[in-house]
Amino acid sequence: MVDVREAAKALAGARRVVVFTGAGISAESGVPTFRDALTGLWERYDAQALATPQAFEDDPDLVWGWYEWRRSLIQGVHPNPGHEAVAAIEAHAPHTLVVTQNVDDLHERAGSRAPIHLHGSLFTPRCAACSRPAEPGRGDEPEEGRRLAPPRCGCGGAIRPGVVWFGEALPEEALEEAVQAATDCDVLLTVGTSGVVYPAAEIPKVASMFGGTVIQVNPRPTPLDAVAAINLHGSAAVVLPELVSAAWPEHAAAGS
Ligand code: APR
Repeated sequence: MVDVREAAKALAGARRVVVFTGAGISAESGVPTFRDALTGLWERYDAQALATPQAFEDDPDLVWGWYEWRRSLIQGVHPNPGHEAVAAIEAHAPHTLVVTQNVDDLHERAGSRAPIHLHGSLFTPRCAACSRPAEPGRGDEPEEGRRLAPPRCGCGGAIRPGVVWFGEALPEEALEEAVQAATDCDVLLTVGTSGVVYPAAEIPKVASMFGGTVIQVNPRPTPLDAVAAINLHGSAAVVLPELVSAAWPEHAAAGS
């Protein structure tokens, strides 16, 4: 509780805030993290092995089916109090930038203005050959998943998910904006990320290097423990609303 109060004080006093999120913030909405075991059709596979250009080249139906299944799952879940607390931080501290590694749209659906998606989005498929944007599918995949041939672009290329795979470069503009915001921020709140996937994991380090106070929310230890000035051990859906209420008591009183 002392740590929450200390974190709340830093947050309420900050002019510029970066909220940096990973799969853990969506876990309580029912979206598995990358370290959870896969189920159904994908039980035998490792998420990290499916999220590569090579996997898509070798077996496009398997990989496209997996991403369509994930998109379908996300369309059926809701933002949780963690996502809502992030939107509340933006409302109280107008110079807040949300930088997420997540490819879901739960920040947007909770009311976050324009989160930066460092690893792309499940909702922006494009042609693997000519990069032309494509329409996302309907998102009514069976619960157990299925193999699914990717649709074809007018140019004949296969449609691929609009996400950043292992071995691919992050969208340049998004990365630059995130690094700049980390450089300039007073507080960086890192939530629900294992902090092992680079270059995204540099962002909290950049904030700390340039004098920002790093606050971490995660139920488990991560390599970012060393970077964080304050470590709040707990789940995002519990700790973030506590933090917002402690930072802006009028928020709690308003019951919003
Ligand atoms: N609240 C907060 N944190 C949580 C919760 C929760 N309820 N549940 C789990 N976590 C934490 C875990 O302890 C872990 O540290 O969330 C983290 C999830 O880690 P990862 O699955 O590695 O997710 P992330 O850090 O977002 O992965 C980074 O790796 O696979 C790639 O591109 C993919 O964007 C992803 C990137």
